[in-house]
Amino acid sequence: MFNSHLIDLADMSDIFWDSLYSTACGIKDGELDCSQACKGRILSTLFYEPSTRTQFSFQSAMLRLGGNVLGFSNPNDCSVAKGETLRDTIKIMSAYSDLLVIRSPVEGSAYAASLYSEIPIINAGDGGHLHPTQTLTDLMTIAKLKGSYTGLNIGVCGDLLNGRTVHSLLKAFCRYSGNTFYLISTPTLAAPDYALTALKASSNRVVECDSIDSCIPSLDILYMTRIQRERFASAEDYQKQRGVFVLDGNKLRSAKKDLCILHPLPKVDEISPEVDDDSRAKYFEQARYGMYIRMALLMLLSKNGRLTPSRVEGLSGARCSSPRCVTNQEKYLPVIARQDNTKLCAYCEAGLENSD
Ligand code: NCD
Repeated sequence: MFNSHLIDLADMSDIFWDSLYSTACGIKDGELDCSQACKGRILSTLFYEPSTRTQFSFQSAMLRLGGNVLGFSNPNDCSVAKGETLRDTIKIMSAYSDLLVIRSPVEGSAYAASLYSEIPIINAGDGGHLHPTQTLTDLMTIAKLKGSYTGLNIGVCGDLLNGRTVHSLLKAFCRYSGNTFYLISTPTLAAPDYALTALKASSNRVVECDSIDSCIPSLDILYMTRIQRERFASAEDYQKQRGVFVLDGNKLRSAKKDLCILHPLPKVDEISPEVDDDSRAKYFEQARYGMYIRMALLMLLSKNGRLTPSRVEGLSGARCSSPRCVTNQEKYLPVIARQDNTKLCAYCEAGLENSD
């Protein structure tokens, strides 16, 4: 019933989501006393990239469950700075703790960590690939505010290419139907195929747009995102993309009265400050749900106890085509294909190619 790790929501069963959601609601409403649920347990938070909400909501979640927390928010503070491999860091931290949250700028790192870990690994963002616990937060927010995952008009705006929260969200909605997604981006920042193909094949409609104005009157949800400066090859490339889509009070005049404006945060310049005072802006409430859903996740995954990592055979004569993939940086990692599509890399979903 329970997953061993949380790397990609595609691996999560509906039963697991239902348990998470009902546990998170019980905690939020004060109906579930969980103050000792993780007593004696230790959570490691390994953040190779900056974070406010994800890192501290996980830490707060563990402390509220009666557990303890250790870890780093700057990899230069530990032996990573001396060149230690991801595999060795994970083996060591999995001996010192009971659950491990990892964020890395390198795509596929969380999956790589799960191959060597004796404790549950939670993906808190792997480069521009996925961010499943943000999506759990988004799903809880949508359930609470809209009461349904079907029949919604959902605008997703900004950096759909590099925004890992967008990729996880679009993939998660493949399990629902009857929604229309308005994908608002420049052609350069359009969503990658792996996030779009399954959504297009699902019973949801996808409309690609080049402005917020063109679709805002129909929207039930507008999911704004930041242009991911740190993922661009140069400052000039970033400057060409920033500031193209800005949600302001003027645009909101033609929006529905019950529009829900979501954002994973941090926001930079894509939402004008006056929008914060509009009752339709729900992003601060959304961040709060993130703590409850992470408490539920830690409670459920901690039931797993210690795991035995199994030895995985790599494909010979193949490599991942993406230079951003962890397999091209940590060379000892076996090259593995996804189970559902043997042409794609199991770590980062880019295409596999011949290495000869
Ligand atoms: C997001 C992330 O890190 O991907 N933030 C978050 O975790 N809430 C979004 C972003 O950085 O733009």
